[in-house]
Amino acid sequence: MKFDDPWKQSTQPNKYSRIAGIIHIKNFNIQSVLECGCGLGYYADWIQRETSITPKSIDISPVAIEKARKLFPHLDFEVADVRADLPKFKGYDCVLFAEIIWYILPQLQNIFEVLRKDFKSKYLLVNQVFYKGTQKYGTEYFTNLKEFINYVPFTLLGQCEATTIYDTTIETSTIFKI
Ligand SMILES: C[S@@+](CC[C@H](N)C(=O)[O-])C[C@H]1O[C@@H](n2cnc3c(N)ncnc32)[C@H](O)[C@@H]1O
Repeated sequence: MKFDDPWKQSTQPNKYSRIAGIIHIKNFNIQSVLECGCGLGYYADWIQRETSITPKSIDISPVAIEKARKLFPHLDFEVADVRADLPKFKGYDCVLFAEIIWYILPQLQNIFEVLRKDFKSKYLLVNQVFYKGTQKYGTEYFTNLKEFINYVPFTLLGQCEATTIYDTTIETSTIFKI
């Protein structure tokens, strides 16, 4: 099956951070995952193959979810807006933000409040790419992993940063205890 693939999701870019996210899930013995911003579902499939966890994968785009369901009928996709619908999913062990941070910057503080209230003692896992000095959007919030970690009000448990000389970006994966 072939679909439009604006973020090149089928080639799974940012492999270092995706693998680090999977290692975080294994290291902290996480049993269930809410993946926010799943897009076409390729990372959910990877997580499932590596951990046997079928994430609940949500995205705001009905088109993306329809395609994800066709590509991976054995996985669990749902249309939802992380800015409004998080409380619905409070049974999950770990909330994964999958390259979604830049989309929800103005609502991040509010989302942290919801996490604090409905996901206390659970995990927040964030996979996020930062730019090597060329970031334009959101610079008043954070421009690198260190600044991001300082911005998040939860306890840092693990962090991973990776790049190569050929990349214009730095891949990161961080896990926090809420
Ligand atoms: C950059 S893509 C990342 C896709 C995939 N996670 C990956 O790593 O390749 C960001 C995704 O977040 C979704 N998104 C943006 N805002 C959202 C929101 N408020 N709630 C849920 N998903 C959202 C977009 O529809 C898009 O699929």
